[in-house]
Amino acid sequence: MTRIDLYSNDTHRTQVVSLWQQVFGHAGGHNDACVAIDKKVEANDGFFFVALRDGRVIGTTLAGYDGHRGWLYSVAVHPLYRQRGVGSALVAHAEAALTRRGCMKINLQIVSGNESVAAFYEALGFAVEPRVSMGKKVAANIPGA
Ligand SMILES: CC(C)(COP(=O)(O)OP(=O)(O)OC[C@H]1O[C@@H](n2cnc3c(N)ncnc32)[C@H](O)[C@@H]1OP(=O)(O)O)[C@@H](O)C(=O)NCCC(=O)NCCS
Repeated sequence: MTRIDLYSNDTHRTQVVSLWQQVFGHAGGHNDACVAIDKKVEANDGFFFVALRDGRVIGTTLAGYDGHRGWLYSVAVHPLYRQRGVGSALVAHAEAALTRRGCMKINLQIVSGNESVAAFYEALGFAVEPRVSMGKKVAANIPGA
């Protein structure tokens, strides 16, 4: 039985770090798992969700809402538990939370090379949009940068 809950403790922290390392790889800099978790917890916005099975974290998603757009990040399910609706449930859970906050549109980004995952999001009502995504790192806030 899988349930979705708010991220809330150090056990979740250890298990999320392990999951993200397995699913996304050993990223550093602004994508370092520990830094990302600490900053999201500090934001205390109620948008850090974990999928739990027998008390263990098997999936995550982060959401964000800035008053204009909602965003989804870090949608991940442990390889052993894929194709059972966990990823869809995580996205639906985050979408419902964003909807309750008044969000009118939810965006997400897919990194180059992972385009096939668009099919997963399209099944949930998302559409690929003609946009050029840009970003700028803020070195002053990135440990070790
Ligand atoms: C994408 C992901 C979260 C889906 O989790 P999940 O629990 O397997 O999702 P669900 O069981 O709810 O849905 C599975 C459906 O999505 C489709 N899907 C999932 N990943 C896919 C991919 N990379 N390419 C194409 N289709 C994909 C499956 O084929 C399945 O479709 P079906 O029901 O028609 O067979 C999971 O595959 C994952 O963690 N992937 C690696 C991380 C990642 O790419 N995250 C997205 C970052 S933008």
